[in-house]
Amino acid sequence: EKGNFEHFMLKEIYEQPKAIEDSLRGRMNASQGWIKLGGLDEYINRIDKAERFIITACGTSWHSGMIGEYLLEDLARIPVEVEYASEFRYRNPIIRDNDVVIAISQSGETADTLAAIELAKERQALIYGICNVIGSSIARASHAGSYTHAGPEIGVASTKAFSTQVSIITLIALQIAQVKGTIPTSKMREILYELENISKKIEETLLLNDQIKEIAAIYKDANNFLYLGRGYNFPVALEGALKLKEISYIHAEGYPAAEMKHGPIALIDENMPVVFLATNKSAYEKIVSNVQEVKARKGKIIAVVLKGDTQIAELADHVIEVPETEEILSPLITIVPLQLLAYHIAIMRGCNVDQPRNLAKSVTVE
Ligand code: F6R
Repeated sequence: EKGNFEHFMLKEIYEQPKAIEDSLRGRMNASQGWIKLGGLDEYINRIDKAERFIITACGTSWHSGMIGEYLLEDLARIPVEVEYASEFRYRNPIIRDNDVVIAISQSGETADTLAAIELAKERQALIYGICNVIGSSIARASHAGSYTHAGPEIGVASTKAFSTQVSIITLIALQIAQVKGTIPTSKMREILYELENISKKIEETLLLNDQIKEIAAIYKDANNFLYLGRGYNFPVALEGALKLKEISYIHAEGYPAAEMKHGPIALIDENMPVVFLATNKSAYEKIVSNVQEVKARKGKIIAVVLKGDTQIAELADHVIEVPETEEILSPLITIVPLQLLAYHIAIMRGCNVDQPRNLAKSVTVE
């Protein structure tokens, strides 16, 4: 049921605060300082000893996996590789019995992801599944795992599944960090408090819908889009570009902002809208200079910035101001305006957002 919403996709974008709350409930408590994922507890000795994590997935779930790489390395100090399941399964990968393989899949039925974990299982790795559909093939094939509690996702373009996957992987990284003692207790508390409050900040971000719709009206006829971000916002750039491509059929690419000068900068002219994810405090000045590079070539700049930002606001054609959070949690906020932008552009182009051409909700053939 779509309720008051015109499309499932929009409804599911708006369900994200609740979907995240449902996925975190009973699994953490900020004031008491604990994190507890049942699936992780069961295998914690083996996970603690793992020398390496491999995350495998496809599409949007692969983007969650990339955020997972940053989180696990940052917080738990474990080397991580993120693999497209379709490539991983066919290239005779090195998998050891002390590796942990995390498979991420909304449907739990993606053929390539399932085959990748079957291969890893044969080689004695521990398989940890993050799925949304209970009892799905990937959930059943995993040794352990955690469900996302996004509820059914009907829109073909994944939205709330992505943000709940990112929430779960954040908990995994935090719980392992706690066991390993890789981050100070005080820092852990701060992150947990922010996580507990992230839904409110997403609600606040959703209030930007009308502003984003106005921006969509200006750029709906563009033929290309570039999405740029650094650090935790780089996978968000990839995901924002994917959302636009799949539902509006506009060609879009996501890039690490600094990689732009190694090629994509050649594309920039007055017809190229460039979406910057510029909320990183740690690399702020570097992003400012990336924005300047685009501006110097007359690209149109749509920048997602922290509330109160002035430096980028001066350079950009449009600024979308989002609430501040811990940088490691920022993808949960910065993805929201990009989902809405893709949605409105697609609607204005007359596209079927819930069932885009050539796409199926679950890809059960390779
Ligand atoms: C994008 C999208 C696809 C899926 C991909 C993996 O919006 O929906 O890219 O993310 O097909 O699907 P799951 O997560 O079901 O394995």
